[in-house]
Amino acid sequence: MTPVEGTGPDTNSAPHTPVMLAETLHFLNVRAGGRYIDCTVGAGGHAAAILEASAPDGRLLGIDADPDALAAAEERLAPYAGRFVLKQGYFDRAATFAAEADIVPADGLLCDLGISSLQLDNPGRGFSFRGDGPLDMRFGPQAELTAADIVNEYSQEELARILYEYGDERRSRRIARAIVERRPLHSTLDLAKAVEQVAGKGRKSIPFSRVHPATKTFLALRLAVNQELRHLSDLLALARGLLGFGSRLVVLSFHSLEDRIVKNFLREHSHGEDASFRRLTKKVVRPQADEVQRNPRSRSARLRAAETL
Ligand SMILES: C[S@@+](CC[C@H](N)C(=O)[O-])C[C@H]1O[C@@H](n2cnc3c(N)ncnc32)[C@H](O)[C@@H]1O
Repeated sequence: MTPVEGTGPDTNSAPHTPVMLAETLHFLNVRAGGRYIDCTVGAGGHAAAILEASAPDGRLLGIDADPDALAAAEERLAPYAGRFVLKQGYFDRAATFAAEADIVPADGLLCDLGISSLQLDNPGRGFSFRGDGPLDMRFGPQAELTAADIVNEYSQEELARILYEYGDERRSRRIARAIVERRPLHSTLDLAKAVEQVAGKGRKSIPFSRVHPATKTFLALRLAVNQELRHLSDLLALARGLLGFGSRLVVLSFHSLEDRIVKNFLREHSHGEDASFRRLTKKVVRPQADEVQRNPRSRSARLRAAETL
């Protein structure tokens, strides 16, 4: 697995900058009067560009599990008032939201997975080891578990499995043992210290690596808290039903497990008599070097797109 979406300082230089924006608009084929579903509206960066490109009468449904993200999106999208609807919840409820917003069949569906700078930079959300905060990591209030529930209550074996499967953490067993020994853990710094007990402090503990040793642990727990892979599979399964013919699906992922789910789904559904999609990106599309330089958060982005049949 490639180094994953970071929780370190170098991910923080361009808050709310939409990743691979030009490529996203291109593959969504945004046009005037079109209807679009942004399943991860976040701070509204991609959504604003979609509304701009679909002027004067394009419409957009923006979904996010995070009420804070929706408040930011509401503000950013204010110039397009009357052309967008925002809904709070996990995106596997997209069919209900789309029916309520009268936006089916849509011309395009976008999913920009993972976490936003807004979430990462707020220590109160517990996503980052850079500041001290509660072990929360929930995208939204609907999540059943917090990171504290997992680190303090799961068995050592289950913790090790989560770190290994979701974070590709090769020291998963030792980190799980350190977590269990230090229970109860209350804060993000408690968790970072448990990892440091095994992996040492700071970036120098992994020779030639730019990645902080706690990065994989935090990522793995975030995926588990929000059940992100399950939500993604569920969304893909219902995507075709939300779209018209010749409509577009664009998914931006930041984690090789997410990308594999999208890749396999599109491969499976673009063959044979029952094919429902035509792949527009047989090979994954990566950000240009200048974007990675401007916005380091984009460095692990992978875009896949398809058109409905
Ligand atoms: C990378 S950010 C999106 C940024 C946005 N495209 C922009 O330009 O501002 C991802 C957002 O998706 C939300 N999110 C992630 N998984 C979700 C899910 N399964 N259901 C609903 N929202 C989700 C997160 O809360 C976060 O706000």
